[in-house]
Amino acid sequence: MKKERILVTGGTGYIGSHTVVELQNAGYQVVIIDNLSNSNRDVLNGIERITGCRPDFVEADCTDMNAVTALFDNYPDIAGIINFAASKAVGESIEKPLLYYRNNLNTLINLLELMGNRGVKGIVFSSSCTVYGEPDTNPVTEAAPIKTATSPYGNTKQICEEIIHDTINSGAPFKSIILRYFNPVGAHPSAEIGELPNGVPQNLIPYLTQTAIGIRKELSVFGDDYDTPDGSCIRDFINVVDLAKAHVIAIERMLQNQSEAAVETFNLGTGIGLSVKELIAAFERATGVKVPHKIVGRRPGDIEKVWAEPSYANNVLGWRAEATIDDTMRSAWAWQCRLRERGIM
Ligand code: NAD
Ligand code: WQD
Repeated sequence: MKKERILVTGGTGYIGSHTVVELQNAGYQVVIIDNLSNSNRDVLNGIERITGCRPDFVEADCTDMNAVTALFDNYPDIAGIINFAASKAVGESIEKPLLYYRNNLNTLINLLELMGNRGVKGIVFSSSCTVYGEPDTNPVTEAAPIKTATSPYGNTKQICEEIIHDTINSGAPFKSIILRYFNPVGAHPSAEIGELPNGVPQNLIPYLTQTAIGIRKELSVFGDDYDTPDGSCIRDFINVVDLAKAHVIAIERMLQNQSEAAVETFNLGTGIGLSVKELIAAFERATGVKVPHKIVGRRPGDIEKVWAEPSYANNVLGWRAEATIDDTMRSAWAWQCRLRERGIM
């Protein structure tokens, strides 16, 4: 028998699509709402090829209250929500702050407003390690101080977390799990779904794989004079499938009334800090493909080093990151090669 129905906002996006696969594999019914502002319909085919099941799909904007109301009317059995829908480009958010505040805040507000009257038991929210800014110590626990945001994007994540707390403290009849992702990377091992960056990638892995395949001439390593063992920045690169699996556990936890508090917050990372140079070396080792790269100056606003203390998620959710960095790099490369085969990139 099928399990409950889950609404996945932003479900054709990068992390959303991998999560829909894991939800369907776990037996959940899924309805996706996505406005396709940063993804496309073909992702549904990829999900279907992996799982043998095509999720219901509603093309609509979550900031449109009428559209979201209609969706709840059409699917009165939604038991839980996972809210991925958001604009996520840090640089763009500095140029277009209102777009980011409008999209990311109104999406969440609409969902919170509607779910209270519709018997939805809980909402998982995609937050980010960006809330910790440059942490005072590593690894970072969930108790680390929230630092003043350095971009409107980062600020939307902080404000959204506060909106969730305020709403639930006011007596809203549902629970929430806030998941703070570190750096999600890689693709589904089938290479049927993965990250689809728009234009010139700003993030490390898509730029690296596009360089390895020859779309970009060389990867710029932003700075090798940081206070780190090899001078390049350190991050916690978390495999996207591992990340997706945590969402299924979080949904299950709320639907089965296992939450210890009405709002719970978990770091999702590996607990391992890898430098940019180490990551390039891992990619070359895992795939046998060379990545032309050069050291350039620091990128303004970059955090020097940040990696997660994931023990809370490990112990309480029973979740842990399992993929090796080599497996993750191979999956990212297989996805890039698949995009080439399909003539997309
Ligand atoms: P993505 O852009 O691939 O996916 C987001 C999806 O939401 C896209 O398909 C887009 O079309 C859709 N969308 C955006 N605004 C919408 C709206 N108003 N209505 C309907 N659909 C809308 O991004 P992702 O990497 O999968 O990120 C998912 C979530 O995780 C986001 O909230 C993001 O801020 C957060 N997050 C991402 C990272 C990362 O590095 N990828 C890290 C931390 C947190
Ligand atoms: C990683 C490292 C760069 C590109 C961003 C957001 C953050 C979160 C995750 C959503 C850094 C270096 C990169 C390149 C490089 N997203 N780099 N050359 O900056 O850790 O975090 O994504 O919440 O909010 O800010 O990720 O992949 O851009 O960079 O040397 O061409 O790779 O300097 O040290 P970042 P990233």
